[in-house]
Amino acid sequence: MGIAVPFPTTQPAGYQWLDDEPSFDPDTHLQLEAPSKIVMLSELGYHDDEIATKATPVAASTPFRVLSDEGAEILLDVARRLRQFVRPAGDRIQNMLRGGCYRSRWLRDLCIDQDVSNHLEAIYGIPIAPHPMPVHLGHMNFEPNSLDNAIDKWHHDTLPLDFVMMVTDPADVDGGRFEYFVGTKHEAAELAAQGLTPPADRTVAPHFPGPGYAIALHGDMVVHRAGPLFNLDERISMVNGYVALDTSADDQSRSSDLFVVDDHQVLFTEWAKMAAWRSQGRLATLIDELPFTSDKAAVIAELESAIADTQRAIDEMREGKDTMEHYGG
Ligand SMILES: [Fe+2]
Repeated sequence: MGIAVPFPTTQPAGYQWLDDEPSFDPDTHLQLEAPSKIVMLSELGYHDDEIATKATPVAASTPFRVLSDEGAEILLDVARRLRQFVRPAGDRIQNMLRGGCYRSRWLRDLCIDQDVSNHLEAIYGIPIAPHPMPVHLGHMNFEPNSLDNAIDKWHHDTLPLDFVMMVTDPADVDGGRFEYFVGTKHEAAELAAQGLTPPADRTVAPHFPGPGYAIALHGDMVVHRAGPLFNLDERISMVNGYVALDTSADDQSRSSDLFVVDDHQVLFTEWAKMAAWRSQGRLATLIDELPFTSDKAAVIAELESAIADTQRAIDEMREGKDTMEHYGG
């Protein structure tokens, strides 16, 4: 059972459950199939020393089936009912939904389902858990209000791992293809500094055979976007976040970007719990493994490393931020 922080048993103020929802039934709503291929971070140009500190050496998978036809129909229905709660994310996304797992029990139960987690775990090759911050569970992007606005610009995610699932049938949408850059985020930053975005000959737009298919992504390391729409068709995708259970890996989060994205009453509490979980894991390792030593500096460094994520959360939360990073497009 991979759980980092249990899903809260109470809802934030102002959030209400959809009524008349079907119960999530893994036996009839899931149809988990393996991806045909997995792309590694080294294939994008990352070096071994950088990969070593990250959750997994996996970069992305080819699209694989997650939902049955019945499951995909229910998800589309849930998404349409939740559309009324869309908001912008800084200047990166015009219409996105956060906190949907506090409004739809079906969505919540899909996003924290252990069969789905285990499936992703096999793809990533490491023990994982649904993201400890439920704002990162069941995130949805909807088509923008006009063709002038991107669905989502080039970026890497504010969290380590996620899957990106098509909610609407890609065959019914003109454009709006999910694309990723066959390069590193350092290269993407160099391009952005020159006013450029990843060139078409270095991007991959995987073919999603239908709604309910997803790709697994190392979202913090793979630069990606939802490409432009050519017609204002209904276009909905869903992103579900995960973390490595091994807290010795890098945090790989940019939670300070979420100041302009999330409901603060939800964000600050979830963020604190995430930081506390990370430090709890590292402190437990320290208790188990710290040897006798007179090397004071080494002991201090171990303690500082153990609480680094909590200290960073305190500093970033105190400072605040009013922008969200992206690479344009
Ligand atoms: Fe993303």
